[in-house]
Amino acid sequence: MRVLSGIQPTGRFHWGNYFGAIQQYIELQDEDESYYFIANLHALTTIRDRELLRQLTLDAAIDLLALGLDPNRANLFAQSDIPEVSELCWLLLSGTSMGLLERCVSFKDKKARGIQANVGLFTYPVLMSADILAYDADVVPVGEDQLQHIEVCRDLAMSFNHQFGDVFTLPKGKVLADSAKVPGTDGEKMSKSYNNTLELFEAPKPQRKKIMRITTDSRPMEEPKPDYEDDTLFQLYRLVATESECAEMAELYQRGGFGYGEVKKAVADAADRYFAEPRARREELAAHPERVREILADGANVARKKAGDVLLRAQQACGVK
Ligand code: TYM
Repeated sequence: MRVLSGIQPTGRFHWGNYFGAIQQYIELQDEDESYYFIANLHALTTIRDRELLRQLTLDAAIDLLALGLDPNRANLFAQSDIPEVSELCWLLLSGTSMGLLERCVSFKDKKARGIQANVGLFTYPVLMSADILAYDADVVPVGEDQLQHIEVCRDLAMSFNHQFGDVFTLPKGKVLADSAKVPGTDGEKMSKSYNNTLELFEAPKPQRKKIMRITTDSRPMEEPKPDYEDDTLFQLYRLVATESECAEMAELYQRGGFGYGEVKKAVADAADRYFAEPRARREELAAHPERVREILADGANVARKKAGDVLLRAQQACGVK
């Protein structure tokens, strides 16, 4: 089984990225082949500052390694180091209907929120499709918000295969039931563009402040809260607490007689413990950026070879080679 996924370096990673996607990357890195990349070409549709984009790309690699991605088991690279993907993207674009992309939620959503859409943003599911198809990926671990894009990828691959023969492998998306959609501090999906994130490597103090400001309901303290599973704070706690801590917290909610301030403190404490090790590893890695760049270069070498083979197959099939 070949596993692939990508993540945009549009800001520092947050809990949604980790619990929705990165955790799966780490679990799946022992499959026969795994490819994980930093989607800096996708990020270029929103970040227009070269130094910032370079820095965030390096930071993303450091974060992934600190969180447990092992370059001896998985190929980690930057998207822009694989030009074959952009070529493949063109082959796919020329068979993509406007309507298919107009229906994509992420584009509609950005447009609705007044974010100026460029053509790159509009066609981004096609570049994402090329990312996936270039490595014959079978499985794509992601959060729920990316599933529609994987469907687009399957549609494009099927239509290309239908016209030109059996060129592309059809991928499947994989989401984790418990964290397919991690809530942000306002209860909506956690997202950089909603400004409701808890970053993974934020300094503990400001992070604690953000947690203390999480929106809660106004039911009296003594009231039992049997619907605890719908509560944002509980949902966040469940991600970072141990099973027994979680069971205790569930009991407390059901009993009533507690303040949300207590729960917020428990979330912040559990998060400190959960991320302590990766935080220490991150400091070590950040002190040696040249090693991280080497890891990215090695990953890109392997990825380019694979993408080159698939590109040639597609070029020959459609008659440009
Ligand atoms: P991006 O960079 O927005 O997000 C990276 C990964 O994090 C997941 N995620 C979440 N999961 C659960 N709850 C949340 N609140 C949450 N927020 C983010 C996303 O689902 C994603 O898996 N288009 C992609 C990047 C990409 C890609 C690819 C992914 C480019 N090419 C090829 C897979 C395969 C994106 O913008 O993800």
